[in-house]
Amino acid sequence: MFNDPLRAICDDPLERKWIWISLVLAVVMGGLLGFYAVASNLNPPSNVETIDSSRLHLTQEFAEDNLGVKNQPDGSLRVTLVAARYGFYPQHIEVPADTPVTFRIASADVLHGVHVPFTNMTTMIVPGYISEVQTRFPRTGEFSLLCNEYCGLGHDSMWSRLVVVPKSAGGASS
Ligand code: CUA
Repeated sequence: MFNDPLRAICDDPLERKWIWISLVLAVVMGGLLGFYAVASNLNPPSNVETIDSSRLHLTQEFAEDNLGVKNQPDGSLRVTLVAARYGFYPQHIEVPADTPVTFRIASADVLHGVHVPFTNMTTMIVPGYISEVQTRFPRTGEFSLLCNEYCGLGHDSMWSRLVVVPKSAGGASS
């Protein structure tokens, strides 16, 4: 019989058994969380890049004419969005499936969040910072970009459309 370290804090064998079960469960669940975070590529966005939110329109990258989907030389895509009460602009974006996509998003006013249900795309959009998310969308279809940080009376209607098209038909549509 091994020397149970829990003996130091608990005399009852049945109670010690249950303490062990809960400890093992906690370790297993923590391990599963870690495993799925790695396996599903769930990274906390960690880009730290500042920008003056009141002057987005004067920047090169976030000027109205430069927003949207752009092809990169390496075959990936870059999607530049402005989040502002109450929408993500441009309000309709189209990307091919299974292609690396880098989102770069800046808020023009207050704190927003963006979440695309059924994908791993989610981040906060903090005014003064550029949020960057790298992802790819394995499934085709229409998705919604939803705001998931309360940002004002129009928060509930703050969303825009993301269409993932088959890869062959892919290509940037501005
Ligand atoms: Cu933007 Cu809620």
